Amino acid sequence: MKEKHLEALLKEERVFSPSEEFSQQAVIQDPSIYDQGQDYLSFWEEQAKNLSWFSPWEKTLQWNPPFAQWFINGKLNASYNCLDRHLNDWHRNKAALIFEGEMGDSQVLTYQDLHREVCKFANVLKSLGVKKGDPVTIYLPMIPEAIIAMLACARIGAPHSVVFGGFSYNFLRDRVQEVQSKVVITADGGFRRGKTIPLKVNTDLALSDVDCVNNVIVVEHTKEKVHMEEGWDLWYHEEMAKAPRICPPEPMDSEDTLFILYTSGTTGEPKGVVHSTGGYLTGVSTTHRWIFDLKEEDVYWCAEDIGWITGHSYVVYGPLANGATVLIYEGSPEYPHRGRYWEIIEKYQVSIFYTSPTAIRTFMKWGPYYPQKIDLSSLRLLGSVGEPINPEAWVWFHKYIGSGKCPIVDTWWQTETGMIMLTPLPGITNLKPGSCTVPFPGVKLEIVDKNGDPVPYGEGGYLVIKEPWPAMFRNIYGNPEFLQKTYFEHWPGVYFTGDGAKWDKDGYFWVLGRVDDVINVSGRRLGTMEVESALVDHPLVAEAACVGIKHELKGQALVAFVVMKEGVQGTPGLGDNLKNHVVKKIGALARPDDIHFTTELPKTRSGKILRHILRDIAEGKTIGDTTIVADSSVVNSLQSNYRR
Ligand code: PRX
Repeated sequence: MKEKHLEALLKEERVFSPSEEFSQQAVIQDPSIYDQGQDYLSFWEEQAKNLSWFSPWEKTLQWNPPFAQWFINGKLNASYNCLDRHLNDWHRNKAALIFEGEMGDSQVLTYQDLHREVCKFANVLKSLGVKKGDPVTIYLPMIPEAIIAMLACARIGAPHSVVFGGFSYNFLRDRVQEVQSKVVITADGGFRRGKTIPLKVNTDLALSDVDCVNNVIVVEHTKEKVHMEEGWDLWYHEEMAKAPRICPPEPMDSEDTLFILYTSGTTGEPKGVVHSTGGYLTGVSTTHRWIFDLKEEDVYWCAEDIGWITGHSYVVYGPLANGATVLIYEGSPEYPHRGRYWEIIEKYQVSIFYTSPTAIRTFMKWGPYYPQKIDLSSLRLLGSVGEPINPEAWVWFHKYIGSGKCPIVDTWWQTETGMIMLTPLPGITNLKPGSCTVPFPGVKLEIVDKNGDPVPYGEGGYLVIKEPWPAMFRNIYGNPEFLQKTYFEHWPGVYFTGDGAKWDKDGYFWVLGRVDDVINVSGRRLGTMEVESALVDHPLVAEAACVGIKHELKGQALVAFVVMKEGVQGTPGLGDNLKNHVVKKIGALARPDDIHFTTELPKTRSGKILRHILRDIAEGKTIGDTTIVADSSVVNSLQSNYRR
């Protein structure tokens, strides 16, 4: 870790307070909730009581850093909490899942329907010899069967490992092998941008030299012809037709593994993040209810795939444990046209919409024409996750999607944290565009210097978590040393997030980006977020990514890759214009040495900008592994067009 902590340059003065109308109906209206969170053990104990336990826990927390155990000896089942407990009253006929397919097909499953399908599929898994503790791999598009499969695994105590449907067969093979799945669940294919993704073909390729798998269950979805190996490949619908409808939930220990989820972040080897049952469910259900201000009548849409942690925590487990109506959409935001998301919101009267900054910046690039044509008045709350949201993108989202009235919850968290950690509570928090505001009650985040001491307000440093929290990951699958080495080696017992952040004079947190991406100009350390946000603040810019490349005098020179809004013509002097804009916004120190215009940035499949690839391009290096890039043609075109 470098000597100095981070500069804090961006001055964002805009504040958006919740309207009285919103505050008065909010789930959380009393700021004393933060005081209650100070005693985090009793706070989380209270929250855990909202779940249905088969037998109560004996001790709240056992903390032997880096290993935490929560609600020790408590017994519960995640699928019971997401389904069975809603069947005792009218909720049994409430819509649990609303599915919209890319082709315009749709399906609604009530809690009762979902329960029936999950029980049947749990029996299918059992009939194939899957037992408690056996990991099952799920490689499906965003269709109801994906959620049925996850909950069926949870029902019988088989940890699931969901592999995002956009990953290649190599990735799938490695994951199946690492967890030694006996059963893999896939589909004939998935729909994306009007085309099909050959999931079954990928699965066949992945499993050709894997010997742990006994069966592949195939959901018929695109109806394309696929090869079915007798006795090995089984059609989902045929197995379901034979399956009994009753399947009692397996009583699981609070600490039993609910799932393994592989994440590679923006660098490095994928690691299998292991999550527990009791602590995880407590964390995701509480945060979901309070942060999204959940009411019975809400239609909640988190437009993220179940292949990511956001899909696990805030499409499946949090919302269903809370008895919410969850919308899922299989396809892309631009099929058959760029107004598709807004049409879906209007069609189902979505009231809560949760998405990523990368999606918001794309909408901004396309312009307000598409949402403006549609009635979005059903929306009452918006959310953002996955990357720092640039203030201008926040303001755009607020104005054009939220009609200037919906609060935006900018939620910071990680695959490892399992649940949202930094966030507004929308009825009581004043919002500042670009800041994920303050820690959720009962979690202890700080910004520290290299000695682990808190930096003063107004300054930047390393974002850390000082105390355990219930949804924290329990391990890295098959690699506990990695857990200690990566997250806990810097300061004893303190979790290092890998992010840099500053807090402002009010104690609001501003995440500045990954510390690996920090740019060091003349000994001053700049987070990427502030310079990028200064660029996105320019009225013609939609998206920007900044990197530091070697410079003989300054240590590093700052290179910015900029995507303009659609229809903007490049004019001579535009680059200088943008450089001056950055100087005006945040100071001469952050003046980019070079600006490179592009139409796309390289991103992960979950939409995060891959700055280290941009750095390699700008330094003229050969680019190593590009398997984590969603679209490698973007890298090729950047490489061939880059002028130095
Ligand atoms: O750098 C932070 C960024 O995403 C990282 C976690 O990525 P992942 O494990 O893929 O989980 C994404 C979904 C929770 C963080 O270390 N990040 C996530 N949310 C935000 C964010 N950065 C700034 N603001 C956020 N709201």
